[in-house]
Amino acid sequence: MQIIRQLNALKTAIADVKSDGGTVALVPTMGALHAGHMQLVHEAAKRADHVVASIFVNPTQFGEGEDLDAYPRQEEADARLLREAGVKILWAPDAEEMYPHGYSTTISVSGVSMGLCGGTRPGHFDGVATVVSKLFHQVEPDMALFGEKDYQQLAVIRRFVRDLDFTLEIVGVPTVRDHDGLALSSRNAYLSAENRAAAAHFPKALREGIARLEQGADVTATLDGIEQQILAAGFKSVDYVSLCDAGNLQELATLDRPARLLSAARIGSTRLIDNMAVTPTTT
Ligand code: PAF
Repeated sequence: MQIIRQLNALKTAIADVKSDGGTVALVPTMGALHAGHMQLVHEAAKRADHVVASIFVNPTQFGEGEDLDAYPRQEEADARLLREAGVKILWAPDAEEMYPHGYSTTISVSGVSMGLCGGTRPGHFDGVATVVSKLFHQVEPDMALFGEKDYQQLAVIRRFVRDLDFTLEIVGVPTVRDHDGLALSSRNAYLSAENRAAAAHFPKALREGIARLEQGADVTATLDGIEQQILAAGFKSVDYVSLCDAGNLQELATLDRPARLLSAARIGSTRLIDNMAVTPTTT
């Protein structure tokens, strides 16, 4: 596996990899890899001839006071995992290479970026859309894979890919969960043992709420109940619990189409997000 930090070297390496006529899948990450990321890599290897991964802790998607400086960085261990999984190229530029002096362009996706995490993390999805579109131009993959755990991020990426006429395929991969149901996340590493145990109540509250919704319970009352259940488990605050259209993420007051239950909540100093599918009962 080649580890590449300069764009001109990346272009040469990509041309070399593509010279056999094979397809390329990109797995963009911010590093601190866990089984969820490796699932993306394995899925990429099933679908394409060559896998390229990127590690870049993107400063433009972190707001003021967020965890950019504390974000876990462990490139050596990450590179080992990626090499063992058969990744051909690890693209690991620094911030200067990604955003050279004078850099001034931002991609902003309206609609699907607003509300949910876009409401509590202003500018976050502009940073994501901008860096991901740069990664697409840099690597020119046939497909790119993203976890459904960041469901709004996936929807934002699908939107700008359609709007800006990118031709690659976007593949969403189901969330990988720990033994107790907590969605794997690099940020789980911040949790104390006590908070880690309490965190399992977060997906549990969502699952139980979904069962009630699918039995026809009132949406507003159910969302309130889920929030109370998360707070009772020891979470400090709940940013949102929302039922949304599974495609465009518009909020729903009734479960009348395929939907997604999405939530973000804070425990200790850690903000966790999760989401699950909700299926309307057919009458
Ligand atoms: O999901 C992530 O790790 C990041 O948001 C991404 C897609 C790599 C962009 O920085």
